Amino acid sequence: MSQLKTKPEILTVSTESLTAAAYALQEGRLVVFPTETVYGLGADATNDTAVARIFSAKGRPQFNPLIVHVAHADEVAGIAVPDRLANELMLRFWPGPLTLVLPRAENSSISLLCSAGLDTLAVRCPENKTARNLIEAAGVPLAAPSANKSGSVSPTTAQHVIESFGDETGDLAIILAGGKSYLGVESTVLDLSGDVPTLLRPGAVLQEEIEAAIGMPIKVGSGNAAKPNAPGQLESHYAPNAKVRLDIRKPEADEAYLAFGNAHGIEVKALLNLSAEGDLFEAAANLFAHLRELDKSGATSIAVAPVPEVGLGIAINDRLRRAAAPRS
Ligand code: TXA
Ligand code: MG
Repeated sequence: MSQLKTKPEILTVSTESLTAAAYALQEGRLVVFPTETVYGLGADATNDTAVARIFSAKGRPQFNPLIVHVAHADEVAGIAVPDRLANELMLRFWPGPLTLVLPRAENSSISLLCSAGLDTLAVRCPENKTARNLIEAAGVPLAAPSANKSGSVSPTTAQHVIESFGDETGDLAIILAGGKSYLGVESTVLDLSGDVPTLLRPGAVLQEEIEAAIGMPIKVGSGNAAKPNAPGQLESHYAPNAKVRLDIRKPEADEAYLAFGNAHGIEVKALLNLSAEGDLFEAAANLFAHLRELDKSGATSIAVAPVPEVGLGIAINDRLRRAAAPRS
């Protein structure tokens, strides 16, 4: 039985498109919006049905907890319980790519599905102006995972979103096309709900910046799904179709190569450079787009040059290790 499939509207950012998108969200529909990290698949976080629609659209194997996006830090108090550390971090890093996991407020209006059964809530205030304007216009916090099918590479352009969903865009009402996400890796996730602040996912806000801001060391989560409450911690979460081999300086001729720094004289089936200058910010911004592009070359494996494990390189290597992890 064939189902009637509607195509999402792809709109550039304007007052009209923001109003239309806000209206769609209020109706419980899904809207894709740009953020500085990756594109998000947004739903009214207070509407159970709308949040459930995110999971079905993404084809998530299970209910993983979602990040709740707010337009201002002062919206957090009604939905979660920020302590002194949380308030300091919000003051220092918001709006920006830092997600905080906090205890849920007792009368939180946020759908329990966002927390996936946990008594905590992940909150973030994106730096991207379109994202914040949309949240404000909708008048509710937005639950938003990365706007890709589960298990595939996160989207940093509207085009990636369209490619990732293919002909399964039936659940998406509107895609707001707001240019390329300039950071290119998902937000840093810091858990403040336990005794010691714990880094659950590395991102553009670095461990040392957080430690400097709060004046104490933080714990780094094991990242090996020992406590599988963060899908960023699922083994093959960022996987392209091709096999991925890491730390390769001399790729095979029939491979695709994801270079970093000087790639002079390397001959392969397809080559893209994360950053010829060895700039980690440029590399992060290119990471997911280049993986997608090399995947399209048809090579059965993508060899990846070593990326230094410093600064934003920590988040880049984290995503690369997941892309290379054995597929389950
Ligand atoms: O940059 C980002 O954070 C993007 C953009 C769209 O804002 N969003 C994003 O969402 O990456 P998603 O669903 O792909 O990743 C959410 C991360 C996961 O690692 C998830 O497990 C963690 O946040 N998370 C969410 N709620 C949590 C909670 N209550 N406890 C622990 N981890 C949580
Ligand atoms: Mg994701």
